[in-house]
Amino acid sequence: MSRSADTSLGSCCAIIGAQWGDEGKGKLIDILAERFDVIARACGGANAGHTIVVNGTKHVFRLLPSGSLHAGKPVVLGGGMVIHLPTLLEEIELLEKAGIEIRSRIHLAHNAHIVFEYHKAIDGALEDRRAKVTGKGIGTTRRGIGPAYADKALRRGLRMEAFSWRNEDVLTFLEQRRDDIKESYGVTVDVDAEIAAFTAARHVLRERVANDVPSLLHGFLAKKKTVLVEGAQATLLDIDHGTYPYVTSSQTTVAGALQGLGLAPKALTSVIGVAKAYCTRVGEGEFLTEIEGATGDRLRERGGEYGSVTKRPRRCGWLHIPDLEHAAILNGFTCWNITKLDVLDKEETIPVGIGTDAHGKAEYKTFPGWKTSTLGITDFGKLPAEAQEILNFIEKQTGIPVRFIGTGQGREEMIVQ
Ligand code: IMP
Repeated sequence: MSRSADTSLGSCCAIIGAQWGDEGKGKLIDILAERFDVIARACGGANAGHTIVVNGTKHVFRLLPSGSLHAGKPVVLGGGMVIHLPTLLEEIELLEKAGIEIRSRIHLAHNAHIVFEYHKAIDGALEDRRAKVTGKGIGTTRRGIGPAYADKALRRGLRMEAFSWRNEDVLTFLEQRRDDIKESYGVTVDVDAEIAAFTAARHVLRERVANDVPSLLHGFLAKKKTVLVEGAQATLLDIDHGTYPYVTSSQTTVAGALQGLGLAPKALTSVIGVAKAYCTRVGEGEFLTEIEGATGDRLRERGGEYGSVTKRPRRCGWLHIPDLEHAAILNGFTCWNITKLDVLDKEETIPVGIGTDAHGKAEYKTFPGWKTSTLGITDFGKLPAEAQEILNFIEKQTGIPVRFIGTGQGREEMIVQ
């Protein structure tokens, strides 16, 4: 990485998805994590799935920040998160099996909410009910995200701080929830199984609960440590600013990340917007530049566009500049990371959405394809002229420089300028 790219990100950098998730944020996070002292995740839960390829081996993280791969760095899970404890334990074990110590460096915010099995069951029941009543669900990941955030808003969730409760108080809480849940959703809560999972996690993680994450982060920054904030999901899935109701239940913008961690806005020194060179979406909801048929299938196969959590085939489409502009306004991006450029290598022509016509259909500017491999290129000047043209167009339309360009799956396959 060039020195200028390194220093200009400053002491607190956030990485935020600009589309509907799965932009490939994990790879940049993983690269930058090497340069930052502390890695923090703010919001969301096990609906996320960051796939990272290191030395040819794929790692998928749902709860731990992708930067956790870097031994020795403190990892913060913020209070804006909803945490499924068995998944977290699995990820810890996976890392430790790979020889990466993680337990002693996790800081779990005391106010992060716990996702129980019953949240997942309610998520599924609500999806089925919606599909029955309206003909289609939201297409959630069924990981209990919506019900856990609903419980938080209704002030009937259990937070990480419950690790210090007496066993009988946890039991009473769960028994009360069991009756309420049965009545409201017809879902049966297995209190014994919930308690067993909670107790197993408490055994491993009790000492890792942090009672004041805002002060912890503030202290790191005061000691001139650098903090990398890892966004989860992406801007168009934001509960407030996304394509409601086909969104997730958390705030996925940089503002949500700051809130989720208890970081003051003035602490932030840079925000990198991550967008694919095309676009994908999982689940239901509008997708103006969606491509049906053979071209969509080709992008899906070339880009490996299958959900890392649910394995669902992702809907594929072209890049849509107005979405990038919208995301840039909301997040104040200081630069772009355009990912997966190489997936477009074989396209004859590459349409880019630039707006909508009078009928609400996407309008395109069509660029010629380059029909040659960009895989692994690490120098902008070595890209085919046609690829440079599209990247320059993104810069010009959004007014934001493209600083990072992904040209393959591996950590090293990236142009940095
Ligand atoms: P939920 O977050 O499981 O409630 O799902 C709500 C919507 O957000 C669905 O369309 C999901 O497919 C989508 N979603 C949630 N997390 C991610 C993600 O990490 N990547 C892509 N889509 C996601």
